[in-house]
Amino acid sequence: MKITLTKNPKQKPDFNSLGFGKYFSDHMLVMDYTPETGWQEMEIIPYDEFKLAPSTTVLHYAQGIFEGCKAYKNKEGKITLFRPEENFKRFNRSAERLCMPTIDEDAVLEGLKKLVEIESDWIPTDVGKALYVRPTMIGTDPALGVHASHSYKFFIILSPVGAYYAHGLTPTKIYIEDVYVRAAIGGTGEAKCMGNYAASLKAGEEANAKGFDQVLWLDAAERKYAEEVGSMNIFFVIDGVVVTPALNGSILPGITRKSAITVLKDMGYKVEERKVSVDELIEAHKAGKLNECFGTGTAAVISPVGQLTYKGVDMIVNNGEMGEITTKLYDAITSIQMGKAEDKFGWVVKVN
Ligand code: COI
Repeated sequence: MKITLTKNPKQKPDFNSLGFGKYFSDHMLVMDYTPETGWQEMEIIPYDEFKLAPSTTVLHYAQGIFEGCKAYKNKEGKITLFRPEENFKRFNRSAERLCMPTIDEDAVLEGLKKLVEIESDWIPTDVGKALYVRPTMIGTDPALGVHASHSYKFFIILSPVGAYYAHGLTPTKIYIEDVYVRAAIGGTGEAKCMGNYAASLKAGEEANAKGFDQVLWLDAAERKYAEEVGSMNIFFVIDGVVVTPALNGSILPGITRKSAITVLKDMGYKVEERKVSVDELIEAHKAGKLNECFGTGTAAVISPVGQLTYKGVDMIVNNGEMGEITTKLYDAITSIQMGKAEDKFGWVVKVN
């Protein structure tokens, strides 16, 4: 791997007011693909703009995929990544769905470790903060025919981040979307592809204008069952049982989702992966049994939800406060991620 270090390191932002995804570190990892050469040598180079022809495939037909994982650093300077192998596995599944070449997961993980080590000063150490890792692949053919690109660019950029939501751990207000849909079975819902996010913007903006943080998507066929929130998977606690929509082909198989299920079961909670209808949520709320609601995601971590609104009916969850199970789960997951608790499931990958 070739490494070229920057001669002009950037001024670092104030780590106390990072927000999400606004600042980028000094270097990035890049790797190009052509049918003749396959994947070429990985390179770490100074973070800079790409030069792309206006006709580049991804700019027209969104043949692009991405991932999100996080690097952490403790006060002693030990750097770790949380389940990055899972991200690269999912990346390759997304690549197959979008007709893109797969990457060598082990080699890219080694490249990522090197990049993160070079950028160690960019990793915040406070709880709730991390260095967000964004691996991405785009189709780069300069051509307008609708077919899979032949050439590709893979890159990883890094961004020091705080909480995803501007209001941190204050419970979010979620609008249950009954007009637009995110994905249908057979579509690209379970791939982490760019178009899924573009298609979600309209509903998100309309919900924001009504005072909500995000939307909860329902299934495309019946508009009846909960699927996911645009940037996180969704969990409900109904009468003491933790329930989350079962993966059905149109829901993103979240790595934090999977980790949350494992941790909750290990804590002794009953967790069910199954269909959850809006009617069930309304009934549970009426009966005082919708105890808690939270979202899970790499960016969102564990985010409490304090209100769900469906067709004008507000369901206030746990008095709009972060619930007990949500709090315990947040503490357990972030403690493993930050190296403060034993890594009993073998999820933490050491970088240095
Ligand atoms: C993540 O949680 O890492 C995501 O990719 C969600 C969002 C920021 C797009």
